[in-house]
Amino acid sequence: MADSKLKLIYFSPTRTTRRVLDAVAKGFGAGELTVFDVTREEGVPQDFDCANDDLVIIGTPVYAGRVPAIALERLASLKGAGVPAVLVVVYGNRAFDDALLELKDFSAEAGFKPVAAAAFIGEHSYSTKVTPVAVGRPDAGDIVKAEEFGRELAVMFQRGKWDNGVGLNVPGANPYKERVNRALVAPFSQGNCELCGACERVCPTGAITVGVEVVTDADNCILCCACVKVCTNDSRKMEVPRVLEISKWLSTNCAERREPDVFLAQ
Ligand SMILES: Cc1cc2nc3c(=O)[nH]c(=O)nc-3n(C[C@H](O)[C@H](O)[C@H](O)COP(=O)(O)O)c2cc1C
Repeated sequence: MADSKLKLIYFSPTRTTRRVLDAVAKGFGAGELTVFDVTREEGVPQDFDCANDDLVIIGTPVYAGRVPAIALERLASLKGAGVPAVLVVVYGNRAFDDALLELKDFSAEAGFKPVAAAAFIGEHSYSTKVTPVAVGRPDAGDIVKAEEFGRELAVMFQRGKWDNGVGLNVPGANPYKERVNRALVAPFSQGNCELCGACERVCPTGAITVGVEVVTDADNCILCCACVKVCTNDSRKMEVPRVLEISKWLSTNCAERREPDVFLAQ
């Protein structure tokens, strides 16, 4: 697809969404690729217009069956200008519920033409050594599927199939699942913390400040676990009772491997 311009846009605190989108882009093989990581506010460009792109792929994780509210905030100024969009959600092996439909509806409202969608599986943000959930995903098999999806998009693109503008159907219900209220709790750093600042740098909401100690503003924490996963000496912990309970439930009830789903406009 040497003559195509592809834009990747993602919100991805623990980087599983990012890895899936990178693989889809690799399969597509665009001549020109631009990437917007909107996980942190500074990644949102001043002018978020896609008029000059041939295809845009938007990816977010699933939070409580929805697109995270903060991801929608980051994407609020996005203008589709009639460009075809591919919607991708990544979920932690429980379910994606209404998230893909919500992302599709959002993209249409922003002026895109939704042409394809997919739901992939990523290691659950709450997975721990004691309560593992979808560990290591997306794994090699998922990446192969993501690249295949990208190649399929390239074939559709070459055939000009999207020009028909025929609708895309994805699972989900509207009204979407009700959002879960913020828990006003947060991970914390333990004694062996070396104050390296990695947690502060990855936090999507700026809720962490590292000085002579690590201060976390629980009011701003979205429980994404980016800080926990980035901590190299295991000192950042999500040992919040409510989250530990959820991790345990997920580890017991969502152990059976789920596979990616792909949806194409007819
Ligand atoms: C607050 C929160 C809610 C989540 N809700 C769901 C869910 O409803 N279903 C599911 O399967 N996974 C759920 N997950 C897991 C994430 O969707 C999954 O780990 C995803 O791979 C994270 O994407 P990222 O690596 O791009 O941040 C949730 C994670 C968090 C932090």
